[in-house]
Amino acid sequence: MKVTVVGAGAVGASCAEYIAIKDFASEVVLLDIKEGYAEGKAMDLMQTASLNGFDTKITGSTSDYSKTAGSDIAVITSGIPRKPGMTREELIGINAGIVKSVAASLVEHSPNVILIVVSNPMDTMTYLAHKVTGLPKNRIIGMGGALDSARFKYRLAEALEAPISDVDGMVIGGHSDKGMVPLTRLATRNSVPASEFLSEERLQQVLEDTKVGGATLTKLLGTSAWYAPGAAVSGLVQAIACDQKKIFPCSTLLDGEYGLSDLCIGVPVVLGRNGIEKIVEINLSDAEKAHLEESAAGVKKTNSLI
Ligand code: 2OP
Repeated sequence: MKVTVVGAGAVGASCAEYIAIKDFASEVVLLDIKEGYAEGKAMDLMQTASLNGFDTKITGSTSDYSKTAGSDIAVITSGIPRKPGMTREELIGINAGIVKSVAASLVEHSPNVILIVVSNPMDTMTYLAHKVTGLPKNRIIGMGGALDSARFKYRLAEALEAPISDVDGMVIGGHSDKGMVPLTRLATRNSVPASEFLSEERLQQVLEDTKVGGATLTKLLGTSAWYAPGAAVSGLVQAIACDQKKIFPCSTLLDGEYGLSDLCIGVPVVLGRNGIEKIVEINLSDAEKAHLEESAAGVKKTNSLI
């Protein structure tokens, strides 16, 4: 299993590290435009192999896409991260051009590749990848919901004073501060609805904290987060590589599902060796449907800028 990660910045390098530590891929190729940067990070990561106990081979290259040839999966993290106070949508001017060229180069060298888009504004960048590559819809996946759901579980566990392993929850909708739809109604603590433990007000606070989870970290860090984004991507890569048939909320091209079409937005999908193997249509409440439709309108507005 060959995996390419484009962008050896904090998110890309964390993703490569987590993939290596999980040791399901034979090879990870890290690419960056900055001379020597991907080579250096790959070498540093390889020097953890004996310490972290993995055999995955990590190599780095400065923008030589021939090194990515034959990749089964490719992750696009390249582009600029947001600064405090910025929205993800404000990155579109620079990141659209980068994602366009990276996606085209990846597919040119790996025609059968499954693409995972991380660069922001992620839902629009995922949609752009479809326009640029023409890949079948099961082979282009946007990573946002897996990260947002991890932040949702973090906030739920905090509110429930429970271990994260006891908590489950999913966030659908756009990967944006206003567009996320944390499904508090379906959140559970060991199969018991969270609403049996938490008041409506406390659950609403969990929802609001989740929606600004990225912005909260950007304010603290001065740049976008990287550990959880990198870990979330590595989980999608593993589900595909190991044909796990796991359900994740991922940004995918909709064609009527949830009453939405011609956009990429986060909905539950089954991930396996063929990428998005099924779009799962769950029953949403009227309020959840309205939030998802509102979120879709926001994504389409950003799509109109590309
Ligand atoms: C985040 O939410 C980078 O969009 C990513 O942290």
